[in-house]
Amino acid sequence: MSNENTNGHNMLVQVKNLKTHFFLTEGIVRAVDGVNFYIDRGRTLGVVGESGCGKSVTARSIMNMIRPPGRNVAGQVIYHRQKKEAQGSTVTEEIDLLTLEPMSAEMRSIRGGEFSMIFQEPRASLSPLHTIGTQIMEGLKLHMDIDDEEARQRAIEQLQRVNIPKAEERIDAYAHQLSGGMCQRAMIALALACQPALLIADEPTTSLDVTTEAQILNLMRELQDTFHTSIMYITHNMAVIAEIAQRVLVMYMGKDVELAPVDALFYDPRHPYTRALLRSIPRIDDEREMLAVMRGNVPDPYALPTGCPFHPRCESRLRVCSQPVEVPYVEVSPGHFVRCHLYAGGG
Ligand SMILES: Nc1ncnc2c1ncn2[C@@H]1O[C@H](COP(=O)(O)OP(=O)(O)OP(=O)(O)O)[C@@H](O)[C@H]1O
Ligand SMILES: [Mg+2]
Repeated sequence: MSNENTNGHNMLVQVKNLKTHFFLTEGIVRAVDGVNFYIDRGRTLGVVGESGCGKSVTARSIMNMIRPPGRNVAGQVIYHRQKKEAQGSTVTEEIDLLTLEPMSAEMRSIRGGEFSMIFQEPRASLSPLHTIGTQIMEGLKLHMDIDDEEARQRAIEQLQRVNIPKAEERIDAYAHQLSGGMCQRAMIALALACQPALLIADEPTTSLDVTTEAQILNLMRELQDTFHTSIMYITHNMAVIAEIAQRVLVMYMGKDVELAPVDALFYDPRHPYTRALLRSIPRIDDEREMLAVMRGNVPDPYALPTGCPFHPRCESRLRVCSQPVEVPYVEVSPGHFVRCHLYAGGG
């Protein structure tokens, strides 16, 4: 099969050398600057990295939602789209989403139905002018041949599925009438209404308490089991990654510094940045360790260091790391990739 790589992955989306830059009067922000990864069908990819490293811009690039002054300056986002033929067989076609006009009918239909996204700020992504129900029903009707009554019934079911109490009443509420947690759930219901092939969840639980967060994580897993949804889950929280993801992408300053199966990432992290990130997980028993960890701050986005962007903060740096040369991208074990000079000779 064309969409299986050598490790037997069944890819839904493949991101190749993605570069997304913002052209501002102050200079160019290379928000995403050469990122490679893939999302398997029915699996969860976790994406981690410090604030400003390009996680949300990567997500928006996959959705082909970058607006000026931003632009996708290089790379591909290949969607391995499965279609049912009339006879019932399934065919897979490959589309580079970045070749589609962002507002074209095809891209809008992918974005509204096959891919959906839970944004970092749920209130900002729910319309203040329409009730929760209207928005979910619109989503459902866009992709299913159903009347208003059936759409309403399905929307209520969707709200119940995300554990919104009194869904028959809350369906007529506006976003501002709901608590932060309820908004987050409504947003998730909206995103899942069309049973997307890909769900991008950008910090979906940041504004939630830990109990609600645990419920939402369970819910996503359930939905994944039921509908075989692929999930790209962006978070700062390594504990959440350990719970939900099978593979993890670590980003630093617009680069993909490490991509690994979740166990390898936790037990055998290779990039010095990943190691520092893991050491910085807050621990109840030792506050000092958490504070001791990463020296320096994320550099100014307008003035990236030459060479590896992490070298000024790196404890293991070599002389070559500050040189203006391409940092090698090495597969250290099957499916485990690291962008670092330390592995230039292999694993
Ligand atoms: N619309 C925009 N215009 C200009 N610069 C932008 C825009 N959106 C993002 N950026 C810049 O791109 C870089 C990456 O931003 P991004 O939002 O992807 O970070 P992030 O990893 O999602 O961070 P966080 O964890 O805080 O959400 C940042 O330097 C940010 O300032
Ligand atoms: Mg973000």
